[in-house]
Amino acid sequence: MGLAHVAAWRSAYAGILPETYLTGLSAVREAASYQRGIAARQNGHAAFVAIAGEADAPEGSRTPPGGLVVGFVTGGRARRPEMSEGEVETLYVLDDWRERGLGRRLMRAMAAHLHALHCRNALVWVLADNPSRWFYERIGGRTVAREEIQVAGQQVMQQAMLWDPVESLLAATAGTSSPG
Ligand SMILES: CC(C)(COP(=O)(O)OP(=O)(O)OC[C@H]1O[C@@H](n2cnc3c(N)ncnc32)[C@H](O)[C@@H]1OP(=O)(O)O)[C@@H](O)C(=O)NCCC(=O)NCCS
Repeated sequence: MGLAHVAAWRSAYAGILPETYLTGLSAVREAASYQRGIAARQNGHAAFVAIAGEADAPEGSRTPPGGLVVGFVTGGRARRPEMSEGEVETLYVLDDWRERGLGRRLMRAMAAHLHALHCRNALVWVLADNPSRWFYERIGGRTVAREEIQVAGQQVMQQAMLWDPVESLLAATAGTSSPG
């Protein structure tokens, strides 16, 4: 997950976050941070990963034994309970694996998890300049708040997108076909 995180951040936030911050990201550090979160399982925190095996690899490339993490989603009970009950904290699919339905399938896995936790709704924070907010709109997310935050010493606008009830996210991600 560390490698996927660093690759996804560098591609998603180039031109949005400072270059020095992005080049300074460490896959080892990020992997350790995700591992701590998964092990602690606080507030219903969970992660789901999309793993590509040998058969999925593009011709000429090889995947490591056990497969390669090409996408993941994390979330659990909301960090700001006044805004929602459930929260999707991170969602990433590696560049070469996008537009095959993996993002939608990962969101569905998280929606089912939040539903099982009895969260009545689900929220995600996304940077307003991040094109992935169109993905969230595509699957029915509704913008409910905007605010300025500091990331890596820079003021950026983020927006909250909500699915209420959480079943609306399950419905919007239903019938996902297998990624090709
Ligand atoms: C956002 C992201 C997870 C989407 O993953 P994906 O696997 O490409 O998404 P899917 O293939 O499941 O797409 C589902 C639908 O959304 C659409 N979609 C995906 N990305 C889109 C975008 N950037 N803009 C508009 N529509 C988009 C797809 O065309 C598809 O439409 P369909 O209903 O006609 O099939 C991926 O682009 C990503 O990792 N982005 C960078 C990381 C990031 O910014 N994460 C969010 C941090 S909060």
